[in-house]
Order: sequence, then structure tokens, then C-alpha cells
Amino acid sequence: MKEKISKIKQNALEEISNIQENLKGAELENALKTLNEIKVKYLGKKGELTSVLRGMGALAPEERPVIGSLVNEVREEIENSLKEKEEKLKEAELQEKLEKETIDITLPGTKIKRGSKHPVNRVIEEIEDLFVSMGYDVIPGPELETDEFCFERLNLPKGHPARDMQDSFYITNEYLLRTQTSAVQARAMLANKEKTPIRMICAGKTYRREDDATHSHQFGQVEGLVIDKKERNVSLADLKGTLEVFVKKLIGKNCELRFRPSYFPFTEPSYEVDVSCFKCGGKGCNLCKHTGWIEVLGSGIVHPNVLKMNGYDPNEYGGFAFGTGLERLAMFKYGIPDMRYLYANDVRFLNQFDRKDEE
Ligand code: DAH
Repeated sequence: MKEKISKIKQNALEEISNIQENLKGAELENALKTLNEIKVKYLGKKGELTSVLRGMGALAPEERPVIGSLVNEVREEIENSLKEKEEKLKEAELQEKLEKETIDITLPGTKIKRGSKHPVNRVIEEIEDLFVSMGYDVIPGPELETDEFCFERLNLPKGHPARDMQDSFYITNEYLLRTQTSAVQARAMLANKEKTPIRMICAGKTYRREDDATHSHQFGQVEGLVIDKKERNVSLADLKGTLEVFVKKLIGKNCELRFRPSYFPFTEPSYEVDVSCFKCGGKGCNLCKHTGWIEVLGSGIVHPNVLKMNGYDPNEYGGFAFGTGLERLAMFKYGIPDMRYLYANDVRFLNQFDRKDEE
């Protein structure tokens, strides 16, 4: 019996050690399979060693524990040997996998197409950052406005001739799509019950019933309003300084500004601001209608009636306001010669602006 057991041990260990270790691919797979077969052959339920245990019944009782412990010893040895070999083979397997999966870092990457921000939105964000840095609040306002806020509270009563300049989309007699962001001036004043100083801008969409080469029925504006106590003397000089910083920071310090007296019902005095044409540099071309200038802004000192109508005593408070078109500013900033490019949704056009902002 003992001889049989030692023969089994010898055979098993020999078979195991016959399996080569530094194999690859199919050979490696086969070796792992063979290893498993050896396990079944010797240690499995019907394996050789197990069958020795089964035959123990025929032995003398005093021999049984001796043979039993010998079988266990051999089983352990075979198991250890199997385990050792399996580890070596698994290591070879891992090595092969690592070699196969090395990455060629010199290969070009796969490009993911990225969208990019619309130039008008870029301009809005830049303007907001700029005014926040000067202590202004950025406030929202509704696009569906009432006649009261869009016109009446801005000193434009029903039947006022200046209403004709802003042909509107009325939804009902009272509601319309706002024609100007100026409507938020009245909202900001009424909301400020404590009458603390107001420094705000509001950018957003506006709508008018016009559609031609230089006008679109929907366009963007940004409004600005500063109100403070009279003794703080918010003056035309402050307005001029603010607008110079604003336009030059946004468009470039080489452009020139021209302040021209004008009329708006909600400011007195009122100014329009022209900027030297970006296309011809002021020499005169078809874009600036051969004047060298393009109008970009309306502004002025807030009209006493507007203060009164929105809860402020004009003897105690004063300030300035301005409003400008976002498309014009985007055209200036990026040198876009035709406003319609902004609405054509052509990715060849829209994709250029990440690069332009880096320049
Ligand atoms: N709301 C005016 C427009 O759409 C622009 C404007 C002019 C705004 C003068 C102002 C201002 O705040 O003071 O034509």
C-alpha cells in the first residue's frame, strides 16, 4: 500500500514538473488545462489517491491511521506543487496580456467634436464680468413684458410719437414681447424699496417688428442703470467714463468713441455713442455708410419723470442709464461684416470663436 502511494506521488509530481512554464497563447492555455486534468486525475472524487482511501476498509485497523495520514501528506504535497505551477502559469498569462495591451502613445487621438459658444453669448458673458468687476449687479427681466413697464413707466405714455420707433409684437392690449431691455430699469427701481444705490446691468433678448438686411425681429440688448443720492453727483462725466471703459475693454483700446446729443424719452440730456468703424478704421466704407462711424449705444441722465414714476424723488436722487445692441458689439469685437452670419447657424462660422478669443 505504501509503495502504491509513493508511486502515485512520484507520478503526480513528475507530471506536474513536466509542464513548461514560459509558454504563450494556445500552449499556455493547454498547459493550464493539463494542470487541471492532473488535479482531477489524482485528487478528484474518482482520482487515484481518493481510491486508495476507499480501499482502506481492507486494511488491519492499526494500519488505517498510518496509511490515512500518509495519504493526507501526499495530497498536501501534490496540492502545493499544483498551486506553485498554477501561479507560474498565471504569471506568464498576465505577462502576455500586458505585452499585448501596450499602448502606442504616438498614435493620433480620436477627436471629439465640441460645440462652441455663440459669439453673442460670449459678448454677454464678457460684459457681465466687466460690469461685475466695477461693482454692478447682473439682474434678469422678463421677455414677455407689459406695456406699463416697457413704455409707460419710461416716460412713453400711450400715443407718444417715440413709440413709433419701436414697432412691437403685442400679445394682448397689455402684454407684448419687450422691445427694449430698458423695461428692467423700472423693475429695478420699484423693487429697491430701501432706495439703496442701484448699479445694475441686464442682458437679454428683445423683439421688434422689423426684418431687413440690418435688422432682425429678435435681437439682443444690454441695459445699464446707476441711481444714487443727489449729493453723490452721478454725472455725465461718470457716464462717459463708464462707457469708454466698457467699449474699449470689450472691443479694443484703439477704437474711438463719439458722443452725440440725441433724444430718448427716458433720459435728459440724451446721447448716442458712435464707435469708429472696425472695417475701414474710420475712413468710410459701405458698412458705416461712408461716415467712418457706427452707432452702438443710447444713453443719458435718467429723466426726472422716470424717477418719479418709479418711486424716487428727483430732488433727492439721480443717475445715468445706457442701452446697447449685443449683435453690433459682437460684430465689432470679432470683425463680423454682416449681422446675418450671427443667425445663420453655420458651424464653419460659429467654430471660429474659441480661437479668436485666445488671440
Ligand atoms: N432702449 C433704447 C433703444 O432700444 C436704448 C437706450 C437709450 C437705453 C438710452 C437707455 C438709454 O438706457 O438711456 O433704442
